[in-house]
Amino acid sequence: MITNPNAEVFDLFPTALYASNYKENITDVKNYLNAEPMRNRNASGYADGFGELSENTYLLDNPVCKSLSDWMLQCFNDYATNIMRWDYQEMGLTQSWLTVKMPGQSHMRHTHPNTLLAGVFYFDVQPEDTAICFFKEVGQTNRVRIEPKQLQDFNSHTYSREEQYFTPKQNDFIVFPSYLSHGVPPNKTDKPRRALGVNAIISKTLGDRGSIAEIQYSRYA
Ligand SMILES: [Fe+2]
Repeated sequence: MITNPNAEVFDLFPTALYASNYKENITDVKNYLNAEPMRNRNASGYADGFGELSENTYLLDNPVCKSLSDWMLQCFNDYATNIMRWDYQEMGLTQSWLTVKMPGQSHMRHTHPNTLLAGVFYFDVQPEDTAICFFKEVGQTNRVRIEPKQLQDFNSHTYSREEQYFTPKQNDFIVFPSYLSHGVPPNKTDKPRRALGVNAIISKTLGDRGSIAEIQYSRYA
């Protein structure tokens, strides 16, 4: 914290991580997800670096997920309208996939292209498992830059931190902008870490016709 009693600090351009807890029974959804075939498993066990993905990447299309996917869409709409202030008619889910990290596995830093919002549903949480980390974009390419040495605790202070961990609760659904870099820290529990990833995008018509920024998807179908 600053020490000058006469100074004020203003938050410039914060990014919202949205977390909402699903209160309905998910027994049938879990049974369905747990039976899904996975890929990326190698001969010696599990591939390093990414963990496993489900073969099916449109899992929420299954009717057993209807209530859950409707609720997720409400969350995405809440974020899009009330946080991002996007002006649009309709939001739709794109791909939805199962991601599994075995003990010791992690997932490198990445973003989600060709979508607007990303979500993760934590339906199988282990206690105190920090399951995701978000990263601030720092530095520039092709430019010389100067870089002060930082105090050791820079990652635990609001304005200097470059990474921030989030620990979900059982049945938490989180939403964030798809451009926000994130990764999955190593699974330090002795159980697989299972979660459902889902992307969402404005459907039918995206952007503003008046400013020559419109996409009508139906014109290219
Ligand atoms: Fe991701």
